Amino acid sequence: MSLRNYRNDFPILKRKVHGKRFAYLDSAASAQKPTVMAEAVVEVLTSGYANIHRGAYKFSQDLTAIYENVRQQVADFIGASTDKEVIFTANATDAINLVSYSWGDAHLKEGDEIIISEMEHHANIVPWQLLRDRKGIVIKVIPVKDDATLDMEAYKALLTDRTRLVSIVHASNALGTINPVEEIIKIAKAYNPDIKVLVDGSQSVVHMPINVQEMGCDFFVFTGHKLYGSTGVGVLYGRYDVLETMIPFRGGGDMIDTVTFERSTYKEPPFRFEAGTPPIVQVIGLGASIDYIYGIGMTAIMHHEAELLRIGDALLSEVDDITIYSKAPSRVGIFSLNINGVHPSDIGMILDQCGVAVRTGHHCCMPLMKRLGVEGTLRASMGIYTNLEDLEQFVSGLKKAKEMLQ
Ligand code: ALA
Repeated sequence: MSLRNYRNDFPILKRKVHGKRFAYLDSAASAQKPTVMAEAVVEVLTSGYANIHRGAYKFSQDLTAIYENVRQQVADFIGASTDKEVIFTANATDAINLVSYSWGDAHLKEGDEIIISEMEHHANIVPWQLLRDRKGIVIKVIPVKDDATLDMEAYKALLTDRTRLVSIVHASNALGTINPVEEIIKIAKAYNPDIKVLVDGSQSVVHMPINVQEMGCDFFVFTGHKLYGSTGVGVLYGRYDVLETMIPFRGGGDMIDTVTFERSTYKEPPFRFEAGTPPIVQVIGLGASIDYIYGIGMTAIMHHEAELLRIGDALLSEVDDITIYSKAPSRVGIFSLNINGVHPSDIGMILDQCGVAVRTGHHCCMPLMKRLGVEGTLRASMGIYTNLEDLEQFVSGLKKAKEMLQ
């Protein structure tokens, strides 16, 4: 295996759960935190804290520089052409809502069409429904095929001269499927270069190198807490010429040039979209997490996870009477399944007793669950620290659950 065991960098993984070794397989919900990230947060809180962009004094100016350096670091991490294309938000959901208001309200009118897919997280469905309620737009949905991939022929047939946006998940949080976003973008732009494409990278940015310019998207969103960072920070990448055409989402301090009671004028992007005191500490933590990932190398992470996926699939193939939904040929480190005839939450409880943390339920993808004909699934998801022992503990817990419940 190409990676050393990174468990030691994550103090929580040393804890026992119900007297058992802790196998954390819920990284798709939120990743555990490396010591270096926690230390960076404590350091800024105890030795370098001030508000930023406003203070005339050293600590404020120093922290402003550190915060803005993280913006550049994020730009480099995702291949943006300038740090001005990076907006810090609260999370990926907040970033998509920002686009739906700031771009959607500015540009869309009744009858305009947005294409999403049947495997979207609610975060990439509900903001567009709210936009539909405000503007009378039409939402069209790319179906998911039985092999857990998108129906690309159906996608092509959905494009019309009213299509304004394609908003698509890069890697499904419920299936692991990696969607061919480059192809999806090429098809949209070939149909009409004015169609914008948003890619929800919350699950992909954790598992593979991202280059938004090569990808060709107009927007790319992700959240910090799945990337080994703190909660409370997310990122919206927007192509600068697109950001320039967008109206503010939230009004307040730090996003204005001038304010009178008659009218206000706004800063240029990205600051136009960052009203109020930003998540300073969380942004610094995110910078530390990205440094940590650089230290390991995204290519090494990808190879490690591919190997674990292969092993996990082989281990699961020895368990009979289960239905596996995570079966796309190209996917991130996610296993999604049900033991036939057993409710996933019952299996989750037994796994917890075995020290194994998984998520059960609809994974914020109710339309996808409807498509699969289930209420929910059991999902085991991997992070940098996942190793063979975790997978063995998971599969042995599944076998135990089968014995007890089936
Ligand atoms: N979106 C997160 C998940 O998939 C919370 O669990």
